[in-house]
Amino acid sequence: MVPMTETSSSATLTPAPEFGEPLAPAHPSAAFLEALARRRSTQAMMMTEPGPDRATLEQMLTIAARVPDHGKLVPFRFIVFEGAARAAFGEAAVKAARLRDDEVADKPEEMLRGLMSWAPVVVAVVSVVDPEHKIPEWEQILSAGAACHNLLLAASATGFASQWLTGWLAYDDNICQALELSKNERIAGFIYLGTAKEPPKERPRPDVAAITTDWPTSG
Ligand SMILES: Cc1cc2nc3c(=O)[nH]c(=O)nc-3n(C[C@H](O)[C@H](O)[C@H](O)COP(=O)(O)O)c2cc1C
Repeated sequence: MVPMTETSSSATLTPAPEFGEPLAPAHPSAAFLEALARRRSTQAMMMTEPGPDRATLEQMLTIAARVPDHGKLVPFRFIVFEGAARAAFGEAAVKAARLRDDEVADKPEEMLRGLMSWAPVVVAVVSVVDPEHKIPEWEQILSAGAACHNLLLAASATGFASQWLTGWLAYDDNICQALELSKNERIAGFIYLGTAKEPPKERPRPDVAAITTDWPTSG
């Protein structure tokens, strides 16, 4: 395995394997295990520059796309927002907000305009469902969710803070139209990528024993 270097906005890129190349069935690594055991999102509003450069982002997206995928349907795609595109999207957010009939309509313009600009790079992970396919829709959506999480892990391994957000943006028809989503597409998440202004703190975690049972449960 080619080791991935430490954190940088232009990390040394790990080449993707060739088709048919033999691969390790597991990657035992204390560092990998520790990263998983201590993984923590950073609030997007607590992010700043730098974000990943384009080559690093492409590697992160390659890793994000490397998820279990029943039927090899690739039931997701990515939309990247960086630089001025984030502010341009902010204009769409202002317009969409003003057309709503809930509390979002009253949010200050400046706040709405800045929604995509909290982090240097934002990736919309779009779930792409083929409702006619024999692979159940549920499984196609799960795969898109896995892509979101793989992107968080790829960000971490490359040295970037990340957060998976949806909020009203993900469910707003006018936003989906601005993003040119088709009728079988939905936003699985906006993944914010950048550098943490300060380290996040641990939050309460599930009591795994309380959510784990052996089957059969009685006896
Ligand atoms: C599908 C999905 C959507 C989310 N949307 C939001 C959101 O809109 N706002 C928010 O504060 N957190 C949202 N979260 C939660 C954060 O991404 C994050 O998981 C949470 O802050 C807990 O941090 P942790 O990832 O370190 O456990 C979402 C998580 C998921 C899985």
